Amino acid sequence: MTSDRERVLVTGATGTTGRLLLRGLALHADVVPASRTADRSVPSGVRFVWGEPQTYVQALAGVSAVYLVPPTGVPDPAGLITEFVRLATDRGVRRVVLHGAQSISSSDPGLGAVQRALPSLAPEWAVLRPSWFMQNLVGDHHLARTLREESVLRTATAKGRVAFVDVEDLAAVGVAALVGGRLDREVVVTGPEALGYDEVAAVLSSETGRKVRHVSVDEDSLAASLAPAFGPAFGRLLAGMDTRIGAGEWNDPTDEVLRVAGRPPATLRDFVRRHASELGASR
Ligand SMILES: NC(=O)c1ccc[n+]([C@@H]2O[C@H](COP(=O)([O-])OP(=O)(O)OC[C@H]3O[C@@H](n4cnc5c(N)ncnc54)[C@H](OP(=O)(O)O)[C@@H]3O)[C@@H](O)[C@H]2O)c1
Repeated sequence: MTSDRERVLVTGATGTTGRLLLRGLALHADVVPASRTADRSVPSGVRFVWGEPQTYVQALAGVSAVYLVPPTGVPDPAGLITEFVRLATDRGVRRVVLHGAQSISSSDPGLGAVQRALPSLAPEWAVLRPSWFMQNLVGDHHLARTLREESVLRTATAKGRVAFVDVEDLAAVGVAALVGGRLDREVVVTGPEALGYDEVAAVLSSETGRKVRHVSVDEDSLAASLAPAFGPAFGRLLAGMDTRIGAGEWNDPTDEVLRVAGRPPATLRDFVRRHASELGASR
């Protein structure tokens, strides 16, 4: 880590990743937490709304590095994000870390266009591309809801596997990307092992004492069941991701948590043990 304390803007600061990133980052930097509601819900938080440039200026005061979580539910955020990065670098920001996804590559449209542009926009940069979050099993995620209410994980992934990542590990990589040595590359951030949802259900069952099942459905019925909560287009997109998991598109773990954050990533079993009470453990 560098010795001078940087001032770092964290967007998405009230979200799953942002909250954990703030904790680790505060040990190394002066942090500016930002989101639509951060001014009301986080100490020293500022109001920051994608697409409202008047909220950018206060957020960027004195800042040298930024962590960018794209706006929720915006199908093509590329224009918003590149405009913000231009303003930020004009105001002295040197390092930009973009929060992407393993499923989005730089050849894709939308966020992929930001990934392509970032090396020419920011003097120092990284794109973090996390695998699916272990945290999808707790909280508000649709998987967490059916898990809580029915002890069921309903997916269209069939026997497909992904290397689920603990967001604590993603946050540790985020801290290193923001205040450690420069990366200037994309980083695919995964857990240590690729698991199918049958195996996830087995780990949940053995660690919590509840009988958890993985119920395989086809893409159309998953899309229909997600549509009321997410709208038809986003429901279809999420269900389509499951089909691609089923085809084995993202089933290789990487060693980036160890390489970048200097510690081994948590296993799903570690995560389930840590969240046993939220996961309804009976013992
Ligand atoms: N879940 C997964 O398995 C997974 C895996 C890989 C990648 N991802 C990616 O991770 C991202 C989400 O990260 P997360 O789960 O850490 O976040 P999250 O819990 O969904 O929270 C989203 C954050 O963004 C803020 N936000 C949303 N819209 C905004 C807007 N228009 N202007 C300003 N702030 C806004 C929200 O705060 P306020 O409501 O306070 O504004 C909140 O802090 C998504 O891009 C997703 O594709 C998810």
